Amino acid sequence: METNEVLNVMPRIGDAAPEFQAVTTQGNINFPSDFTGKWKILFSHPADFTPVCTSEFMTFGKMDDEFKALNCQLVGLSVDGLHSHIAWLRTIKEKINWKGWDNVEVKFPLIVDITMNVAKLYGMIQPGESTTAAVRAVFFIDPNNVIRTIMYYPLSLGRNFDEIKRVLIGLQTVDNFGVALPADWRPGDEVIVPPAGSCGVAKDRMEGADSNLHCYDWFFCTRNISKEEVESKLGK
Ligand code: BEZ
Repeated sequence: METNEVLNVMPRIGDAAPEFQAVTTQGNINFPSDFTGKWKILFSHPADFTPVCTSEFMTFGKMDDEFKALNCQLVGLSVDGLHSHIAWLRTIKEKINWKGWDNVEVKFPLIVDITMNVAKLYGMIQPGESTTAAVRAVFFIDPNNVIRTIMYYPLSLGRNFDEIKRVLIGLQTVDNFGVALPADWRPGDEVIVPPAGSCGVAKDRMEGADSNLHCYDWFFCTRNISKEEVESKLGK
């Protein structure tokens, strides 16, 4: 019963990120407080020394500097121990040249969670998929330590890291410009101006009172923000 209750805890979008202390490949951390003021991507993988996870870690390892430039700290997790993590990351660096990538070094912390305490706290153990390994979860946590987006993937499907980066850029753009973003948005595409509260404003919008707005109907107005403008504020 108690185990089920713990397993059933699923943090939600808008919740404060649950706090924990952990041992990692980069030393001990207090999460999320050690990283307050930065964006955090906390992600789990099922197991060290498995192929899909290896391909994911090589991809994240290659992209780490791109996430750093966006003021974002990557933090990985699996229910393996410290020696396994270290041996796996060393094997990746020294032996695996998937996609022709050589010498890929994973410099971000990888959490040791043999007890599964952190995985359970974050709803990463999903018994229908596996009772012994975390699913592929991704938590996007903002500089104020609030969960802003959650993704879950099954064990057998590697994540799309362009999409992970697009979501981070999208969340930062939402915050920086007070806009919403349409399907498949990328920097440079039109953004959605949330509808104003009053009918008068809606009528003004439709009648073209604001030349920056393009309204498809009263509830669907967009404006342009250039790629350069978006990029000038990223990481802030
Ligand atoms: C993998 O990363 O390849 C993997 C891990 C656990 C189950 C299935 C695949």
